[in-house]
Amino acid sequence: MRVLLTGASGGVARMLRPLLAASGLQLRLSDLQPPDDLQAGEDFMAADLADAAALAPLVRDMEAIVHLGGHSVEGPWATILKANIEGCYNLYEAAFQAGVQRIVFASSNHVMGFHERGDKVDAERMLRPDSRYGVSKAFGEALGALYADKFGLRITNLRIGNVAPAPVDRRRLAIWLHPEDLCQLILIGLRHPDIRYETFYGMSDNARAWWDNRRAQAFGYRPRHRSEDHAARVLAVAEAPDPIADRFQGGAFCSQEHPHPPGVPKP
Ligand SMILES: NC(=O)c1ccc[n+]([C@@H]2O[C@H](COP(=O)([O-])OP(=O)(O)OC[C@H]3O[C@@H](n4cnc5c(N)ncnc54)[C@H](O)[C@@H]3O)[C@@H](O)[C@H]2O)c1
Repeated sequence: MRVLLTGASGGVARMLRPLLAASGLQLRLSDLQPPDDLQAGEDFMAADLADAAALAPLVRDMEAIVHLGGHSVEGPWATILKANIEGCYNLYEAAFQAGVQRIVFASSNHVMGFHERGDKVDAERMLRPDSRYGVSKAFGEALGALYADKFGLRITNLRIGNVAPAPVDRRRLAIWLHPEDLCQLILIGLRHPDIRYETFYGMSDNARAWWDNRRAQAFGYRPRHRSEDHAARVLAVAEAPDPIADRFQGGAFCSQEHPHPPGVPKP
């Protein structure tokens, strides 16, 4: 399968590129700049997702897209608007025009950040974004629904927790995603015959999870990595309390810019 990987110079792509290539995919990499560890034989094309005209050559002859590109944390509205809202729209429209059949979208747990940690949420629950970044990922998910329902693309949204070789703090014991498990979720999105429009949580086998990922399991997802194997090490480290971040699933994205006045959710 010929697959375009956007955001190919980012941190997640650095972990994923070898795993996806080993799965037999023919990758075309794209980003603003080439990855600093670009290997001989890797196919790279520079493009700004905010430049609609630049995307037609990028998607030509591609069967699918793994869309990681964009601004990956909270940021000013102008930045989020260009990279994540206009960028996502430009890419989906170019994909449709070029006959690309599938897209796997790197959404984020931050579309659900203001759900409380005690609550277990599935993909059907109401969106509660915790940031402009989270809102932009909600836009990407909604855009995917439009291109699936109206134009027949097969779309998989992955609400990614935190991709890393191991969880590094308490929150990440709940939301951690090992790169191999992320690769497994992406391959389901790229290959499963019954994908039309799906949203899965991007997490490994996490006993402390706040998310119900039965929908991913129904499509065959069997995470191989368990955050609990790292719990003793993580829990041995003291963490500074933050009443807002500690209450909500989005953590520090919830407390960032939070005015804490009367009338807003208080711990
Ligand atoms: N890292 C995580 O654990 C995590 C968690 C949830 C969601 N995600 C999502 O997964 C994706 C990858 O995350 P990451 O950690 O590798 O982020 P990253 O910031 O390391 O990589 C994102 C890449 O997108 C590129 N990019 C930004 N704006 C662009 C534009 N206008 N045109 C083309 N390329 C552009 C950047 O140059 C960068 O290389 C992002 O969409 C992020 O929101 C990541």
